[in-house]
Amino acid sequence: MDHLPEAEWPQEGRERIIVPAPVAIVGTGQSTGEHEALARLGPDTVMMMGDNPALPRMPEAPTLLDFFRLRITGITGRHLLTAAKRAMDEGQEEKIVLACLLHDISNACLIRSDHGYWGAQMIAPYVDEEVAWAVQQHQALRYFADSSVGYEYPESYHRFFGADYVPPDYIRRDAEAARAHRWYMSARLVTLYDRYFFDEVPVPDPEFLTDVIGRNFRQPAEGLGFDGSPTAHMWRTMIWPNNFL
Ligand SMILES: [Fe+2]
Ligand SMILES: [Fe+2]
Repeated sequence: MDHLPEAEWPQEGRERIIVPAPVAIVGTGQSTGEHEALARLGPDTVMMMGDNPALPRMPEAPTLLDFFRLRITGITGRHLLTAAKRAMDEGQEEKIVLACLLHDISNACLIRSDHGYWGAQMIAPYVDEEVAWAVQQHQALRYFADSSVGYEYPESYHRFFGADYVPPDYIRRDAEAARAHRWYMSARLVTLYDRYFFDEVPVPDPEFLTDVIGRNFRQPAEGLGFDGSPTAHMWRTMIWPNNFL
């Protein structure tokens, strides 16, 4: 965590209002607070733009590991690092280790709904096509057992969604297509390592992934978010999640 003095942050000396992202608020009955925020604006009160002093500051040219150290933390960060570590310890190919590491990246600091699709899109410019494909398809395949590899419908999903939950048609369709695809087993392996072991093991230091990332993730010299790729804006949103615009 950064401990820079207030003067070293943008909008210094003023109260910065954070208006929550609509996707996190719609349908909850909570207000985004937009009206109140607009009414409070003044010389000493502004809408948050740029580095938020409550978050660790990202370097100017952030790497994937920087995101894992400074943004992809909490339950999802632990889940991703643990999944990748298990895959590596069990001798899986590097592309599978990387897919395990990235499979829920969207949940950590961007958006939950359709997280596999968002995550796959975000990483696509930087990884092998098969890795992005596995990340996208893990979402649908999670709902469907495959006894040939010992994958069962997750017990946790009964708790999360209720025992009578039925996935929507698009998930069913995508899972069927994935099953017939030549890369099926890559996505299926992600679901096999996609278990919740939050409390069982200490969080691995992301450092163990340095070589796998170095060989399999095309880190842009300008930094993620600043390389002009079609998904750079998604990485910037993770750098500055509280920007008003
Ligand atoms: Fe997932
Ligand atoms: Fe997961």
